[in-house]
Amino acid sequence: MKLAQRVTELAESATLAVTAKATALKAEGIDIISFAAGEPDFDTPAHIRRTCAAALDAGQTRYPKPASGIPPARQAVCEKFARENDLKYEPNQVLITSGGKMAVYLAIQALIDPGDEVVIPKPYWVSYPEMVKLAGGAPVFIAGPEQEGYKLTPDLLSSVLTDRTRIFMHTSPSNPSGVTYAPNEVRGLAEVLAGRDLVVISDEIYDRLLYDGQETLSFAAASDHAFRQTLTLNSASKTHAMTGWRLGYAGGPIDIIKAMAKLQSQMTSGAATFNQVALTEALTGDQSAVESMRVAFEDRGHRMYERLIGFSGVRCPKPTGAFYCFPNVSGTYERLGVDGSVAFAKLLLDKARVAVVPGVAFGMDEHVRLSFATNMEQIDEGLSRIEKMLT
Ligand SMILES: Cc1ncc(COP(=O)(O)O)c(C=O)c1O
Repeated sequence: MKLAQRVTELAESATLAVTAKATALKAEGIDIISFAAGEPDFDTPAHIRRTCAAALDAGQTRYPKPASGIPPARQAVCEKFARENDLKYEPNQVLITSGGKMAVYLAIQALIDPGDEVVIPKPYWVSYPEMVKLAGGAPVFIAGPEQEGYKLTPDLLSSVLTDRTRIFMHTSPSNPSGVTYAPNEVRGLAEVLAGRDLVVISDEIYDRLLYDGQETLSFAAASDHAFRQTLTLNSASKTHAMTGWRLGYAGGPIDIIKAMAKLQSQMTSGAATFNQVALTEALTGDQSAVESMRVAFEDRGHRMYERLIGFSGVRCPKPTGAFYCFPNVSGTYERLGVDGSVAFAKLLLDKARVAVVPGVAFGMDEHVRLSFATNMEQIDEGLSRIEKMLT
């Protein structure tokens, strides 16, 4: 059967693929330690689950009205942006989507015509390039120096901008590296973009998962110009352990939000109504679980990072946010007889029974990604297995 070219050219999500393989091996009874999944191992906090159950019992089971998000949820998103990001959006500048992924997709579909360029810093979240290509756009990749955790400098960013640049993708903290831009670094990038006819998509899905006192700044809060130029994206998935609920949201210039809402009204009709009631509770209710999960991730991240940098042939940018380590393991390739991150990850799965995601999926074949959204025992055991393979 003939499938559309845009689908045959599309890469499968590497993170979901590795997770599926590790799950299948586990189901066969094989003792696998998986560092592949990009999701908290915690359950959604009880008060959020209870709110959703009550919404179902109260009959909130019909189409969301309007498709762009029920009013209480949009109001809750405005409150979150004001409280935590210093961003003053009105409810009509906000859209609720079926997951953060959908928000990124809608934004790219709303903004990109064939041939338009999208600047994507490396390492990048797996889905950005594929979504840009689906819209007919051209991804333009750029990376800062390794010793700076690959962060872009204003000069580097400036060097790739052209008249065809339509979007700059900014992700801080980063998936896959956990590296986070400090406020002055965000301001430096915003200055370069001021006055240009382009949109910044600021993916801030890990904005509450910051470690070691790391400070950051929402891109849109960098200046008045940045506010008018930026679409801010977030999601309930990581902060509130709600990956399965598929709840994302966006705030930004009204024209972009309207265009995304129009697309959404034709594609999904919006996020499930009772889930949006739960999102309202997640954003405005008790926030203590957010902090206790953050503290647990911080401890686990320290352990994983400290052990990884002790392994011979391994270097790693220090994660100050999100829940990933992204070590450069290319110093072990010759010794192990592998030619890249896919072969490295395969060897690790076959020999050490540890699942990691090959860095090539994030644009860097010298690296692999390990998630520390798993318990300390698994982290210790998994790293001991990796250490054994590397020595
Ligand atoms: C950087 C980044 N953006 C967006 C998403 C999408 O998350 P979700 O669709 O679960 O909200 C993810 C998930 O892994 C991510 O890491």
